[in-house]
Amino acid sequence: MYLEQRYGFEVYPKRDIVIVRGEGALLWDDQGTEFIDCASGIGVASVGHANPVVAKAIADQSQVLITCPGIFYNDVRGVLLEKLVSITPPGLSRAFLCNSGTEAMEAALKFARITTGKTGFISAMRGFHGRTMGALSATYKYRDDFEPLLPGHKFVPFNNFKKLCGALDDDTAAIVLEVVQGEGGVRPADKSYMQSVRRVCDEKNILLILDEVQTGFARTGRMFACEHMEICPDIMTLAKAIAGGVPMGAVMCSNRISSSLGKHGSTFGGNPLACAAALATIGYIEEHKLGDQATEKGRMIREYIDAASLPCVREVRQMGLSIGIELKMKARPVIEALLEKNILALPAGPTVIRLLPPLVITHDQIDRLVRRLVETISAFRLSGDK
Ligand SMILES: Cc1ncc(COP(=O)(O)O)c(C=O)c1O
Repeated sequence: MYLEQRYGFEVYPKRDIVIVRGEGALLWDDQGTEFIDCASGIGVASVGHANPVVAKAIADQSQVLITCPGIFYNDVRGVLLEKLVSITPPGLSRAFLCNSGTEAMEAALKFARITTGKTGFISAMRGFHGRTMGALSATYKYRDDFEPLLPGHKFVPFNNFKKLCGALDDDTAAIVLEVVQGEGGVRPADKSYMQSVRRVCDEKNILLILDEVQTGFARTGRMFACEHMEICPDIMTLAKAIAGGVPMGAVMCSNRISSSLGKHGSTFGGNPLACAAALATIGYIEEHKLGDQATEKGRMIREYIDAASLPCVREVRQMGLSIGIELKMKARPVIEALLEKNILALPAGPTVIRLLPPLVITHDQIDRLVRRLVETISAFRLSGDK
């Protein structure tokens, strides 16, 4: 029995391995077995595990100052805020720093309420925004045992502008969307849909909150996925890859968003250690053009899977290195079989295998990955039996 099984308050069904070390896109367990990591800590390790640039920044900062609450100014935090504003779409001019994706969503919902004086939110079916009570209220799944959640949240089908318009009313504060639904099956938004949503938000004075927690920081080939859509949200939430694995979240706000002075906060939010890690991470993404790498590598993986014409595969959806392989059968047994071939992959709904490898995955690792992937999927018949 693992120590975690004995003492952890388990919320995740676990895979039967103990991960102890990582380097780039590789992970090792306590037996020394090597895995190609297509989970990336669920979309976190975009710059690779144990990235030396990020590790050095953390080590250096840890010897200078680890904590500094938001009631004081801090040098590193200031530099990071400036950097975030400079790399996000032009309308976003300020950032609030927190510690995770769900916290970023909580803040986004509060900021939207303060700004508009309204309490209604519309989000998408299959959307995922986090598991704390506010973020969960905007999330389509995982809510049944926790009702009643926040009132005023409605759900509409993703990529259906007519249905979205039908749900708007005088109390709508904001529309909350992912650009690529990650947990919901790797489903990219249509550009025309997103542009129409932006337009209707402007016409009706409704805020657009884009959740780029999973898509941000070059995962989809651009620094932020909304760049593909050529739109700018009023609020953008970020986390996951932002600080190379050190917990951090950020809420980017346009000038339309009212100040929340004295109305929100976070003890750890924007701590110098996480800020130093984020600065190193963003610098690495820029210097190594990880967005271009995600575009090229994502296309390679997709082409290889498409070319294999696997009978069990219904559809491949992909934007950069966010890849969803929709099967005509349950994904879970295939993911387990991949683990036996030393590939770590994620589910995204019952029938989708999700691949979120570090953007630094090498071409040689991609070769090994796609060969094992195709071999493994081919071994399944449509009944689901091997
Ligand atoms: C799109 C999206 N939003 C929010 C979250 C919540 O982030 P966290 O787990 O850091 O709270 C996630 C996590 O998977 C996510 O994918």
